Amino acid sequence: MNINDKSNPKFYVPSPDRYKTMKYNRCGNSGVLLPQISLGLWHNFGFYDSFENARNILKKAFDLGITHLDLANNYGPPYGSAEENFGRILHKDFKGHRDELFIASKAGFDMWPGPYGDNGSKKYLVASIDQSLQRMGLDYVDVFYHHRPDAETPLEETMHALDLLVKQGKALYIGLSRYSPEETIKAQKILSDLGTPVLIHQSKYSMLERSVEPKLLPTLLDEKIGSIVFSPLAQGLLTDKYLKGIPEGSRASKDNTYLQADEVPKTIETIQKLNKIAQNRGQKLSQMAISWILTQPAITTVLVGASSPLQLEENVKALDNTIFSSEELDKINKILS
Ligand SMILES: NC(=O)c1ccc[n+]([C@@H]2O[C@H](COP(=O)([O-])OP(=O)(O)OC[C@H]3O[C@@H](n4cnc5c(N)ncnc54)[C@H](OP(=O)(O)O)[C@@H]3O)[C@@H](O)[C@H]2O)c1
Repeated sequence: MNINDKSNPKFYVPSPDRYKTMKYNRCGNSGVLLPQISLGLWHNFGFYDSFENARNILKKAFDLGITHLDLANNYGPPYGSAEENFGRILHKDFKGHRDELFIASKAGFDMWPGPYGDNGSKKYLVASIDQSLQRMGLDYVDVFYHHRPDAETPLEETMHALDLLVKQGKALYIGLSRYSPEETIKAQKILSDLGTPVLIHQSKYSMLERSVEPKLLPTLLDEKIGSIVFSPLAQGLLTDKYLKGIPEGSRASKDNTYLQADEVPKTIETIQKLNKIAQNRGQKLSQMAISWILTQPAITTVLVGASSPLQLEENVKALDNTIFSSEELDKINKILS
């Protein structure tokens, strides 16, 4: 069998054009470039999801130049299964391409029972990264995050643990997720003094969730920390998916997801108005939602989720039109205010 035979689905041959169209931004004050759109594996990559679909989404991502993949110890369900599936796919399809990928994992939410499987202790973080590396079959992750701040653990302990992981070679860089501006400044001071400054900060940001704008984004610029923002499509609300109700199979139609069905009627009017502006721009609503985020100078990369390769392909087309007139921005602000 010829492993370069693209018509044979058994072997994945990445597109030779994969770096031709994606744009890459420098992440804070570092040597790392990240694609303007990154892929998160929170949903659609667990044991309850289709393995083949997960595999196809990752192949599509790589073909589109999406080099940054975001995981966490507890992604699934069940917990750990997204990392395990990702490890299998990496081994099957991306052999020889590890060094083209920038892979993130995290710990900070509940992962295993008892007092050592949650929050921000050194005990938890050290054990968790070892488990993540084992599940993914990796020697190191490119960036390891503390997934959320922990008010009970001294910040020094958590930051020293993250620094230790870098010094041990288990992670190349450190990230912070959901840290407030004040917590980020304190953490950055501790880590910089240790010689391991924070590479990147992860927070929720979309047209429907703008709380990071007044303080966090300027802080990240001041501190020269990169910014990756999650749920940019408000988990699908900022797409054309819910314009006519809640389709079967969508996130809002499922139990145990973070997008409640009652969110849809609450936001439908706003979404319809935004959709009209997107249409006038010749974009889909999802594309406008992504390109609007990229107008913020603090943003390094927009972290999308996708339940199909087609969604991802559609979302990446956002990069074809990232310029907004001041009139468009005013109209959007009026709708959102
Ligand atoms: N640090 C943290 O605490 C944290 C928290 C949350 C997420 N994250 C990270 O951020 C990533 C992205 O979050 P997210 O999944 O909430 O992001 P999102 O991009 O706002 O939502 C993704 C969902 O929107 C729908 N969608 C995407 N593109 C679409 C399109 N073109 N047309 C129609 N529907 C579309 C799909 O839902 P359907 O299933 O309905 O098709 C998809 O699963 C996660 O995977 C994770 O890596 C981090």
